[in-house]
Amino acid sequence: MGKTLGKERINEIIEAIIKVARGDYSVQIKLTGKNDEFDSIAMGLNMMIDDLKAGTVGLEYAANRIEEIINVIQKVARGDYTAACELGSQNDIFDALGIGTNMMIDDIRSGVEELHQTNEELRAANEELRATEEELRASNEELEAANEEIRETQEQLIRSERLAAIGQLAGGVGHELRNPLGAIKNAAYYIKGKIAKSELGQKEPRVVEFLEIMDEEINSSNKIINDLLGFSRVGKPSVALTRIEEVIDDAISHTPVPEGIELTKKLIENLPEIEIDAAQIRQVLVNMITNAVQAMPGGGKLTIEARGKDDFMEVAVADTGCGIPEGVIGKIFDPLFTTKAKGIGLGLAVCKSIIDRHGGCIEVKSRVGEGTIFSIKLPLKAT
Ligand SMILES: Nc1ncnc2c1ncn2[C@@H]1O[C@H](COP(=O)(O)OP(=O)(O)O)[C@@H](O)[C@H]1O
Ligand SMILES: [Mg+2]
Repeated sequence: MGKTLGKERINEIIEAIIKVARGDYSVQIKLTGKNDEFDSIAMGLNMMIDDLKAGTVGLEYAANRIEEIINVIQKVARGDYTAACELGSQNDIFDALGIGTNMMIDDIRSGVEELHQTNEELRAANEELRATEEELRASNEELEAANEEIRETQEQLIRSERLAAIGQLAGGVGHELRNPLGAIKNAAYYIKGKIAKSELGQKEPRVVEFLEIMDEEINSSNKIINDLLGFSRVGKPSVALTRIEEVIDDAISHTPVPEGIELTKKLIENLPEIEIDAAQIRQVLVNMITNAVQAMPGGGKLTIEARGKDDFMEVAVADTGCGIPEGVIGKIFDPLFTTKAKGIGLGLAVCKSIIDRHGGCIEVKSRVGEGTIFSIKLPLKAT
């Protein structure tokens, strides 16, 4: 009897322990009031259950507070510096942790703000630097342009001074040689006439031949003298309203074009009249046509084109001759530059000087073995 009762009590106690183990802390083991061993055990167990209940509640509270603090820290990590831990009224360890965390957040916030400001300042300084750099670059470019201009002016000055000196020399030499050469030409002509009919002429045909060579050479020397004189005489153009077609025709009639060369004129209809010194522009065209002919010893095509463009007239002389090598093209307008055995190198210098004085410009395009185009641009109205 006593045994069964004992077993029941034990079962009751075990059941209570299992419930507690499952987390049910509301269990209390009933006391029989007999004050026996079982009651002692039950009392002890009931006290333990109470303790456990209290501990679990504390643990939950701790977990909640820690979770709250972790949430705040996560918000801060995401950049929300307005987050702060709420403080309880218990003044416990979690409140202390919250206060510490809040202080750290304050520190981080002011650090970040300072960083922002420094960053802003840095960006402004950078902006200023970039602006200064830009200004510097602009000034540098201006300086370079000014430098370039000075260099060009200097070159032009040297060029015109050289031109003037060469002009003087050319004029002097041409003048000094013209008369004696005229005398030699007359003398040779006279001798040739006498010899041709004489016995000597019949016996020694080479004498006549040599006299003919003399004649030819005198003629080409005469051409050089004319070039020299022409160069020295380039003066200020005296302009008048002129029909360019007439100047072109005049230039062509002054320049013998050999048979192997096919001459084409391409003139736009109703070309405007132009204010030029006709004699000087004719000289330019003669020089260019002569060069074109000389560039085509085996024949080819010579094209002369004229067209009006806004306030300008463009005249081009094109050939299908030898062309000008790249290394040479920069020098062809220099006085005395020539690549020809019998050249004197004044033709294009004269052209350039005349066109410059007309306020125009000359361009040259050339391909070795294919040909060359010289184009002149002249203002319709002289300035
Ligand atoms: N149409 C052209 N084709 C090829 N080369 C040319 C032509 N015109 C000019 N040149 C080159 O330019 C040089 C200078 O010409 P220029 O001043 O007329 O002097 P020159 O005819 O006495 O040589 C020539 O020697 C030649 O090398
Ligand atoms: Mg020439």
